[in-house]
Amino acid sequence: MDDIIILGIESSCDDTSAAVLHNTTLLSSVIASQAVHEKYGGVIPELASRAHQQNIVPVVDTVLKEAGITIDKVDAIAFTRGPGLLGSLMVGTSFAKGLSIANNIPMVEVNHLHGHILSHFVDLPDRELPHPQYPFLCLLVSGGHTQIVKVDAPDKMEIVGTTIDDAAGEALDKCAKVMGLPYPGGPVIDRLAKEGDKDAFKFAKPRVEGFNYSFSGLKTSFLYTLRDQVAVDPDFIEKNKADLCASLLYTVVDILADKLVKASKQFGIKDIALGGGVSANSALRARIEAEGKRHHWRTFLPELKFTTDNAAMIAVAGYYRYLRGELATLDLTPIARYEEMV
Ligand code: KG4
Ligand code: ZN
Repeated sequence: MDDIIILGIESSCDDTSAAVLHNTTLLSSVIASQAVHEKYGGVIPELASRAHQQNIVPVVDTVLKEAGITIDKVDAIAFTRGPGLLGSLMVGTSFAKGLSIANNIPMVEVNHLHGHILSHFVDLPDRELPHPQYPFLCLLVSGGHTQIVKVDAPDKMEIVGTTIDDAAGEALDKCAKVMGLPYPGGPVIDRLAKEGDKDAFKFAKPRVEGFNYSFSGLKTSFLYTLRDQVAVDPDFIEKNKADLCASLLYTVVDILADKLVKASKQFGIKDIALGGGVSANSALRARIEAEGKRHHWRTFLPELKFTTDNAAMIAVAGYYRYLRGELATLDLTPIARYEEMV
């Protein structure tokens, strides 16, 4: 079982991605991002599934060529079963099934969020990346989810905190949209915040029990500030963009970091990892690094290319499932909602 080749396929949202792993080492990775959504300021599900259909064959073809692998050398096809947009998941799942039948290759299903968490176990051909030791805590912050997960093993994870309303990325994207910034707003806020004063504005912070999060109150507080100020000065947003971004972003980072620190203390776990699209954020990374120094953590920040959606993380999660012999059957269907994932 030493030489396993996994082909990973990710199509849960608006990136069509494929990757080839040799055990946990990444041989190649291709991500086709869908520009079609930009002019709508958000992902349009129907357009996403159509773009996946157009992209998936060339993406998989290219990734195999770049890895120098022919399909008959692939031991298993790992694909994202959910959560995500149903139509998008359907494309990846159906494609995986077709490839599996045609070439007699087993399939493994992957929970997208487990993929984000296990992305810390992908290695690069020229260097091993630092891996957290089990048990570790992962702050998983993406466009759809915000969770603190206690990870005991690749197949043993417990959500110890989750958002009760908006996800952190979703809140950033929505606030960016009302400021007239392009989609997705998170990376734009990241950039603009660097030129702004984080103490320029004060926004409401949630008071939620335990390790759960909430971001909808902050979003509302942000929108009310804009509404009140724009009524007085129509150019308010334009003049204060950087300060607004900095104040908003640092409030989000504070909320995220405070609960993570609490969870680390409560569970006595000092291996702390970040994951998900928002973990690309420079302010969040700097803050978690600083908390790590203060609290003597071993801090694991993902390589930037493994923060947003990618198939390398799906392939590595699939690798562990394959080792456990958990193969998917042809009758399975994609699952849109996290709560329904097994
Ligand atoms: O994990 P991901 O690619 O997709 C989901 O599974 O949701 O995360 C996408 C989210 C979006 O909300 C996007 O705005 C955010 O990640 N994001 C960022 C940055 N890069 C991506 N947010 C803040 N700063 C960034 N640099
Ligand atoms: Zn994701």
